[in-house]
Amino acid sequence: FHVDWDLVQAEKGGFDSFMLKEISEQPQSVRDTMGARIDSETKQIVMPELKMSNEQLSAYDRIYIVACGTSMHAGLVGKDVIEKLTRVPVEVAVASEFRYRDPIYTDNTLMIVISQSGETADTLAALREAKKSGVTVMAVTNVVGSSVSREADEVIFTWAGPEIAVASTKAYTSQVVALYLFALYFAQVKGTQTAEQVAEIVDHMLDLPEAISEILADSAKIRDFANSIKDVNSLFFIGRSLDYAASLEGSLKLKEISYIHSEAYAAGELKHGTLALIEEGVPVIALATQPDIYEKMVSNIVEVKARGARVLGFAVESDNELIKSVDEVIHIPATLPILTPVLTAIPLQLLAYHASVARGLDVDKPRNLAKSVTVE
Ligand code: G6P
Repeated sequence: FHVDWDLVQAEKGGFDSFMLKEISEQPQSVRDTMGARIDSETKQIVMPELKMSNEQLSAYDRIYIVACGTSMHAGLVGKDVIEKLTRVPVEVAVASEFRYRDPIYTDNTLMIVISQSGETADTLAALREAKKSGVTVMAVTNVVGSSVSREADEVIFTWAGPEIAVASTKAYTSQVVALYLFALYFAQVKGTQTAEQVAEIVDHMLDLPEAISEILADSAKIRDFANSIKDVNSLFFIGRSLDYAASLEGSLKLKEISYIHSEAYAAGELKHGTLALIEEGVPVIALATQPDIYEKMVSNIVEVKARGARVLGFAVESDNELIKSVDEVIHIPATLPILTPVLTAIPLQLLAYHASVARGLDVDKPRNLAKSVTVE
């Protein structure tokens, strides 16, 4: 009796790539990140891992979020949500820039570094610089025992489980969820949101795993769209506010593993240059999930349509209007506007994955890229 045993194949658990396995694990990884940090009775946030007192936390009135790549994109979502819930200003910076800056620290500045691996050289250097200046550093990381987790003053683990594919997927959604949890906790401690307001957001967060499962179960449309772009030279992602942050990550994912050039643009900025590149048949992925900016977003979509773009829109479930302005629509399950980046991430990841497969590329190991960049 002989069994052909391939360890790598076994670790992929029946999936053809680590990336697809990791995309599929997101209902669980998102659930695990929330885990014990939500009090199921009161629907309030608990963060027993924080060593600092509530008084200390409450005193922070300025935050830097520093990270690289996908982790930086999670930081952009975090910025928006922390500012909305606490009115504390947050600046997001890429670590390779930040480490050589002369940042303005005050006594009440908190630095948050985000790193899946916890080993990224630039992020670690930025952390060390900040600590040298006496700034408290909080890390959001996925790897227990990593350099970042050991050197930071405070650590929030993402609990996404090991991520093997170079392109980050489940670590990103877990980082975003960890930042929601921190933002809510910070708001509780500062008293900027009432217990009812926190509970309402928590309720919707608890529905995210199920919503992700729904998106995963119905992915034929995004696969077809991915197949249709496999030979294009360039495409665009557009969005406003949180949809813009989500677009940046969608564009990065596609570039990383399909090698198709793409750019993410704040939709309102198109008219200042990028519109010149829109011509007949250019694919545009337009995220329109934010109600407060919806009408403006639709106007931007109409502008690219008028120049011949082929537009794939992303809309929330209840939106029956967007289809009138685009060629096709991907619907995401209903949730709060601040939570949509966790859901729009899933079809955007699948888009990159299917485009890479359609082009016959190595999805898990893209050329020139490394999972963890431990040298400068
Ligand atoms: C590399 C990876 C990216 C990742 C970035 C930051 O470039 O290929 O997927 O987003 O590093 O990594 P970190 O481990 O610090 O999150």
